[in-house]
Amino acid sequence: MAELVIRQAVGADFAAIKNLIHEVGINPTGLDWRRFIVVEAFGRQFAGCGQLKPHSDGSIEMASIAVLPSWRGQGIARLIIQKLLESAPRPLYLTCRSQLGVFYQKFGFCIANDEQLPKYFRRISRIGGLMNSLHVINDKLLVMVLNQ
Ligand SMILES: CC(C)(COP(=O)(O)OP(=O)(O)OC[C@H]1O[C@@H](n2cnc3c(N)ncnc32)[C@H](O)[C@@H]1OP(=O)(O)O)[C@@H](O)C(=O)NCCC(=O)NCCS
Repeated sequence: MAELVIRQAVGADFAAIKNLIHEVGINPTGLDWRRFIVVEAFGRQFAGCGQLKPHSDGSIEMASIAVLPSWRGQGIARLIIQKLLESAPRPLYLTCRSQLGVFYQKFGFCIANDEQLPKYFRRISRIGGLMNSLHVINDKLLVMVLNQ
């Protein structure tokens, strides 16, 4: 197992964060490095990242969870998520492709009830449903919540 260090991001991490988020094709908006935590392997190699992202309705999203392909399957996403959960308020929301629902269930997230969603996530859920019904995206978009 590689020697892993998890830490708050610094400005010098921004390029690596941006590149990874673009490479894996997840939401590229709201990538303020000050909110990110990153994992480094063997002291220097950037291996993955994640953030807690605030929205204008007051809700908080666990977002931008990504690990470089060569570092996957070694518990790095778990490390990032557990660290973010230590300081995250509840309820905590996330959006993901339906394939990843099982992954986030491991951390206690459940599929959110549409009627109880804050404004931002209600809108995302509607847009996701529309894009799915128009076949713009093949996979269903899930909004998940962690209450405890
Ligand atoms: C999803 C992703 C973050 C997982 O990173 P990782 O470091 O390989 O994950 P971990 O090794 O920490 O795995 C943690 C657990 O989740 C499971 N898991 C990992 N990827 C999974 C997947 N795609 N689907 C279901 N379960 C998965 C692992 O088996 C492990 O389970 P265990 O602890 O019970 O053994 C990584 O594949 C990635 O960066 N994907 C592209 C970006 C992305 O889709 N991010 C999510 C945005 S919502």
